[in-house]
Amino acid sequence: MSTAPTARPHHIAIVMDGNGRWATRRFLPRLAGHRQGVESLRRCVRACVARGVGVLTVFAFSSENWNRPHDEVSGLMELMGKALVREVPQLAKDGVRLCFVGERAGLSAGMRGALEQAEALTPANTRLTLNVCFNYGGRWDIAQAAAKLAARGEPITEASLHAAMAMAHVPDPDLLIRTGGEKRISNFLLWQAAYAELYFSDRLWPDFDEAALDEAIADYAARERRFGRTSEQQQPAQPDPLCA
Ligand code: IPE
Ligand code: IPE
Ligand code: MG
Repeated sequence: MSTAPTARPHHIAIVMDGNGRWATRRFLPRLAGHRQGVESLRRCVRACVARGVGVLTVFAFSSENWNRPHDEVSGLMELMGKALVREVPQLAKDGVRLCFVGERAGLSAGMRGALEQAEALTPANTRLTLNVCFNYGGRWDIAQAAAKLAARGEPITEASLHAAMAMAHVPDPDLLIRTGGEKRISNFLLWQAAYAELYFSDRLWPDFDEAALDEAIADYAARERRFGRTSEQQQPAQPDPLCA
Protein backbone atom coordinates (compact mmCIF):
# COMPACT_ATOMS: atom_id res chain seq x y z
CA MET A 1 0.00 0.00 0.00
CA SER A 2 1.44 3.39 -0.93
CA THR A 3 1.74 6.29 1.48
CA ALA A 4 -1.03 8.75 0.67
CA PRO A 5 -0.14 12.44 0.83
CA THR A 6 -1.59 13.67 4.13
CA ALA A 7 -2.15 17.32 3.26
CA ARG A 8 -5.64 17.09 1.81
CA PRO A 9 -8.11 14.27 2.39
CA HIS A 10 -9.53 12.94 -0.87
CA HIS A 11 -12.29 11.01 0.90
CA ILE A 12 -13.99 12.31 4.05
CA ALA A 13 -16.51 10.14 5.92
CA ILE A 14 -18.80 11.55 8.60
CA VAL A 15 -20.97 10.06 11.34
CA MET A 16 -23.47 12.92 11.52
CA ASP A 17 -24.40 12.53 15.18
CA GLY A 18 -26.13 14.88 17.63
CA ASN A 19 -29.33 15.95 15.87
CA GLY A 20 -31.56 14.72 18.70
CA ARG A 21 -29.59 16.52 21.41
CA TRP A 22 -29.51 19.69 19.32
CA ALA A 23 -33.31 19.68 19.28
CA THR A 24 -33.82 18.58 22.88
CA ARG A 25 -31.64 21.43 24.13
CA ARG A 26 -34.02 23.82 22.38
CA PHE A 27 -37.12 22.08 23.75
CA LEU A 28 -37.95 20.97 20.20
CA PRO A 29 -38.99 17.52 18.98
CA ARG A 30 -36.07 15.33 17.83
CA LEU A 31 -37.29 15.53 14.26
CA ALA A 32 -36.56 19.28 14.24
CA GLY A 33 -32.94 18.31 14.90
CA HIS A 34 -32.96 15.93 11.95
CA ARG A 35 -34.40 18.70 9.76
CA GLN A 36 -31.57 20.98 10.86
CA GLY A 37 -29.20 18.09 10.14
CA VAL A 38 -30.25 18.18 6.49
CA GLU A 39 -29.35 21.91 6.39
CA SER A 40 -25.97 21.11 7.89
CA LEU A 41 -25.38 18.41 5.27
CA ARG A 42 -26.22 20.82 2.46
CA ARG A 43 -23.65 23.29 3.86
CA CYS A 44 -21.06 20.53 4.27
CA VAL A 45 -21.51 19.27 0.69
CA ARG A 46 -21.02 22.80 -0.64
CA ALA A 47 -17.92 23.23 1.52
CA CYS A 48 -16.45 19.94 0.31
CA VAL A 49 -17.03 20.90 -3.33
CA ALA A 50 -15.33 24.28 -2.70
CA ARG A 51 -12.36 22.57 -1.00
CA GLY A 52 -11.77 20.04 -3.77
CA VAL A 53 -12.71 16.98 -1.70
CA GLY A 54 -13.36 14.10 -4.10
CA VAL A 55 -15.62 11.87 -2.01
CA LEU A 56 -17.91 12.58 0.94
CA THR A 57 -19.57 9.63 2.68
CA VAL A 58 -22.17 10.35 5.33
CA PHE A 59 -23.98 8.06 7.77
CA ALA A 60 -27.66 8.99 7.54
CA PHE A 61 -29.48 5.92 8.92
CA SER A 62 -27.90 2.84 10.44
CA SER A 63 -29.08 -0.77 10.44
CA GLU A 64 -29.63 -0.26 14.17
CA ASN A 65 -31.64 2.97 13.86
CA TRP A 66 -34.77 0.85 13.20
CA ASN A 67 -34.72 0.30 16.97
CA ARG A 68 -35.78 3.92 17.57
CA PRO A 69 -39.39 4.84 18.37
CA HIS A 70 -41.72 4.27 15.42
CA ASP A 71 -42.54 7.99 15.09
CA GLU A 72 -38.88 8.96 14.78
CA VAL A 73 -38.19 6.24 12.20
CA SER A 74 -41.18 7.19 10.06
CA GLY A 75 -40.26 10.87 10.44
CA LEU A 76 -36.73 10.13 9.24
CA MET A 77 -38.05 8.20 6.22
CA GLU A 78 -40.37 11.06 5.32
CA LEU A 79 -37.57 13.57 5.75
CA MET A 80 -35.32 11.59 3.41
CA GLY A 81 -38.06 11.48 0.76
CA LYS A 82 -38.63 15.23 0.97
CA ALA A 83 -34.91 16.05 1.02
CA LEU A 84 -34.43 14.05 -2.18
CA VAL A 85 -37.10 16.02 -4.03
CA ARG A 86 -35.77 19.35 -2.76
CA GLU A 87 -32.00 18.82 -2.96
CA VAL A 88 -31.23 16.52 -5.87
CA PRO A 89 -31.78 18.99 -8.76
CA GLN A 90 -29.26 21.43 -7.22
CA LEU A 91 -26.79 18.63 -6.43
CA ALA A 92 -27.02 17.57 -10.07
CA LYS A 93 -26.27 21.13 -11.20
CA ASP A 94 -23.34 21.39 -8.78
CA GLY A 95 -21.62 18.36 -10.32
CA VAL A 96 -22.34 16.01 -7.41
CA ARG A 97 -22.75 12.30 -8.07
CA LEU A 98 -25.16 10.86 -5.54
CA CYS A 99 -24.91 7.22 -4.44
CA PHE A 100 -26.94 5.44 -1.78
CA VAL A 101 -25.12 2.75 0.11
CA GLY A 102 -27.05 0.25 2.24
CA GLU A 103 -29.54 -2.59 2.24
CA ARG A 104 -32.32 -1.67 -0.18
CA ALA A 105 -34.38 -4.77 0.59
CA GLY A 106 -35.21 -3.42 4.05
CA LEU A 107 -36.78 -0.25 2.61
CA SER A 108 -40.29 0.34 1.31
CA ALA A 109 -40.87 0.04 -2.44
CA GLY A 110 -41.58 3.79 -2.58
CA MET A 111 -38.29 4.65 -0.89
CA ARG A 112 -36.33 2.24 -3.11
CA GLY A 113 -37.84 3.90 -6.19
CA ALA A 114 -37.02 7.39 -4.88
CA LEU A 115 -33.38 6.44 -4.22
CA GLU A 116 -33.01 4.89 -7.69
CA GLN A 117 -34.56 7.92 -9.34
CA ALA A 118 -32.25 10.31 -7.47
CA GLU A 119 -29.17 8.27 -8.40
CA ALA A 120 -30.24 8.19 -12.04
CA LEU A 121 -30.14 12.00 -12.20
CA THR A 122 -26.45 12.34 -11.34
CA PRO A 123 -24.40 9.34 -12.59
CA ALA A 124 -22.08 11.27 -14.90
CA ASN A 125 -21.12 13.94 -12.37
CA THR A 126 -17.48 14.00 -11.30
CA ARG A 127 -16.92 17.00 -9.01
CA LEU A 128 -17.84 15.22 -5.79
CA THR A 129 -19.14 11.74 -5.11
CA LEU A 130 -21.64 11.90 -2.25
CA ASN A 131 -22.31 8.51 -0.66
CA VAL A 132 -25.32 8.55 1.61
CA CYS A 133 -25.25 5.49 3.87
CA PHE A 134 -28.88 4.68 4.47
CA ASN A 135 -30.03 1.47 6.14
CA TYR A 136 -26.32 0.77 6.25
CA GLY A 137 -24.13 -1.20 8.62
CA GLY A 138 -20.48 -2.17 8.23
CA ARG A 139 -21.31 -5.74 9.27
CA TRP A 140 -24.09 -5.91 6.69
CA ASP A 141 -21.64 -4.83 3.99
CA ILE A 142 -18.99 -7.42 4.90
CA ALA A 143 -21.62 -10.18 5.13
CA GLN A 144 -23.33 -9.28 1.85
CA ALA A 145 -19.97 -9.15 0.05
CA ALA A 146 -19.02 -12.61 1.41
CA ALA A 147 -22.46 -14.01 0.46
CA LYS A 148 -22.11 -12.62 -3.07
CA LEU A 149 -18.72 -14.31 -3.53
CA ALA A 150 -19.97 -17.57 -2.04
CA ALA A 151 -22.98 -17.59 -4.38
CA ARG A 152 -20.65 -17.13 -7.35
CA GLY A 153 -18.31 -19.81 -6.02
CA GLU A 154 -15.44 -17.32 -5.96
CA PRO A 155 -12.59 -17.48 -3.46
CA ILE A 156 -12.81 -15.12 -0.51
CA THR A 157 -9.69 -12.97 -0.34
CA GLU A 158 -9.08 -9.42 0.91
CA ALA A 159 -9.13 -8.16 -2.67
CA SER A 160 -12.28 -10.04 -3.75
CA LEU A 161 -14.17 -9.02 -0.59
CA HIS A 162 -13.12 -5.42 -1.06
CA ALA A 163 -14.36 -5.46 -4.65
CA ALA A 164 -17.70 -7.00 -3.67
CA MET A 165 -18.49 -4.37 -1.04
CA ALA A 166 -21.05 -1.63 -1.44
CA MET A 167 -18.30 1.03 -1.27
CA ALA A 168 -16.10 -0.50 -4.00
CA HIS A 169 -16.74 2.46 -6.32
CA VAL A 170 -14.60 4.79 -4.17
CA PRO A 171 -11.19 4.57 -2.46
CA ASP A 172 -11.11 4.07 1.32
CA PRO A 173 -11.78 7.13 3.50
CA ASP A 174 -8.75 9.20 4.52
CA LEU A 175 -10.48 11.10 7.31
CA LEU A 176 -13.37 9.81 9.41
CA ILE A 177 -15.16 12.48 11.44
CA ARG A 178 -17.73 11.82 14.16
CA THR A 179 -19.65 14.78 15.53
CA GLY A 180 -21.71 14.80 18.73
CA GLY A 181 -18.99 13.85 21.20
CA GLU A 182 -19.29 10.04 21.18
CA LYS A 183 -16.10 8.13 20.55
CA ARG A 184 -17.33 5.04 18.80
CA ILE A 185 -17.77 3.80 15.25
CA SER A 186 -21.39 2.52 15.60
CA ASN A 187 -21.06 -0.03 12.76
CA PHE A 188 -19.89 2.52 10.14
CA LEU A 189 -17.33 1.55 7.46
CA LEU A 190 -15.82 -1.25 9.56
CA TRP A 191 -13.77 -2.58 6.66
CA GLN A 192 -12.97 0.62 4.79
CA ALA A 193 -11.87 2.66 7.83
CA ALA A 194 -8.92 0.32 8.57
CA TYR A 195 -6.45 3.16 7.97
CA ALA A 196 -8.63 6.24 8.17
CA GLU A 197 -7.51 9.06 10.44
CA LEU A 198 -10.15 9.46 13.16
CA TYR A 199 -11.40 12.85 14.29
CA PHE A 200 -13.98 13.37 17.04
CA SER A 201 -15.77 16.67 17.42
CA ASP A 202 -17.93 17.66 20.40
CA ARG A 203 -20.07 19.82 18.12
CA LEU A 204 -23.54 18.49 17.43
CA TRP A 205 -24.07 17.79 13.73
CA PRO A 206 -26.41 20.77 13.08
CA ASP A 207 -23.66 23.06 14.48
CA PHE A 208 -20.86 21.52 12.42
CA ASP A 209 -20.11 24.41 10.04
CA GLU A 210 -17.38 25.25 7.50
CA ALA A 211 -14.98 26.41 10.22
CA ALA A 212 -15.43 23.11 12.07
CA LEU A 213 -14.77 21.20 8.84
CA ASP A 214 -11.64 23.26 8.23
CA GLU A 215 -10.44 22.45 11.77
CA ALA A 216 -10.87 18.75 11.06
CA ILE A 217 -9.02 19.04 7.74
CA ALA A 218 -6.19 21.02 9.40
CA ASP A 219 -5.92 18.38 12.14
CA TYR A 220 -5.71 15.71 9.44
CA ALA A 221 -3.00 17.64 7.62
CA ALA A 222 -0.80 17.50 10.74
CA ARG A 223 -1.05 13.71 11.03
CA GLU A 224 1.59 11.28 9.81
CA ARG A 225 0.05 8.31 8.04
CA ARG A 226 2.47 5.42 8.35
CA PHE A 227 0.49 2.38 7.14
CA GLY A 228 2.60 0.12 9.33
CA ARG A 229 5.94 1.62 8.37
CA THR A 230 8.28 3.58 10.64
CA SER A 231 8.37 7.34 10.84
CA GLU A 232 11.87 7.36 9.28
CA GLN A 233 10.54 5.56 6.21
CA GLN A 234 8.14 8.45 5.66
CA GLN A 235 10.89 11.08 5.39
CA PRO A 236 12.10 11.99 1.92
CA ALA A 237 15.71 10.78 1.48
CA GLN A 238 18.18 13.52 2.49
CA PRO A 239 21.19 14.14 0.21
CA ASP A 240 24.42 12.84 1.78
CA PRO A 241 26.46 16.00 2.68
CA LEU A 242 29.75 14.10 2.09
CA CYS A 243 28.79 13.45 -1.52
CA ALA A 244 27.61 16.99 -2.21
C1 IPE B 1 -27.86 11.34 14.28
O1 IPE B 1 -28.36 12.10 15.32
C2 IPE B 1 -28.86 11.11 13.19
C3 IPE B 1 -29.37 9.73 13.13
C4 IPE B 1 -28.94 8.72 13.83
C5 IPE B 1 -30.44 9.50 12.18
P1 IPE B 1 -29.06 11.43 16.57
O2 IPE B 1 -30.52 11.33 16.31
O3 IPE B 1 -28.40 10.14 16.93
O4 IPE B 1 -28.77 12.51 17.69
P2 IPE B 1 -28.45 12.25 19.21
O5 IPE B 1 -27.21 11.38 19.27
O6 IPE B 1 -29.64 11.55 19.81
O7 IPE B 1 -28.21 13.60 19.78
C1 IPE C 1 -24.85 6.59 14.32
O1 IPE C 1 -25.44 7.40 15.29
C2 IPE C 1 -25.74 6.49 13.12
C3 IPE C 1 -25.93 7.72 12.34
C4 IPE C 1 -25.36 8.87 12.56
C5 IPE C 1 -26.83 7.60 11.23
P1 IPE C 1 -26.30 6.76 16.49
O2 IPE C 1 -26.73 7.90 17.33
O3 IPE C 1 -27.34 5.87 15.96
O4 IPE C 1 -25.19 5.89 17.24
P2 IPE C 1 -25.22 5.28 18.71
O5 IPE C 1 -26.51 4.52 18.86
O6 IPE C 1 -25.14 6.42 19.68
O7 IPE C 1 -24.00 4.41 18.79
MG1 MG D 1 -26.86 9.68 18.18
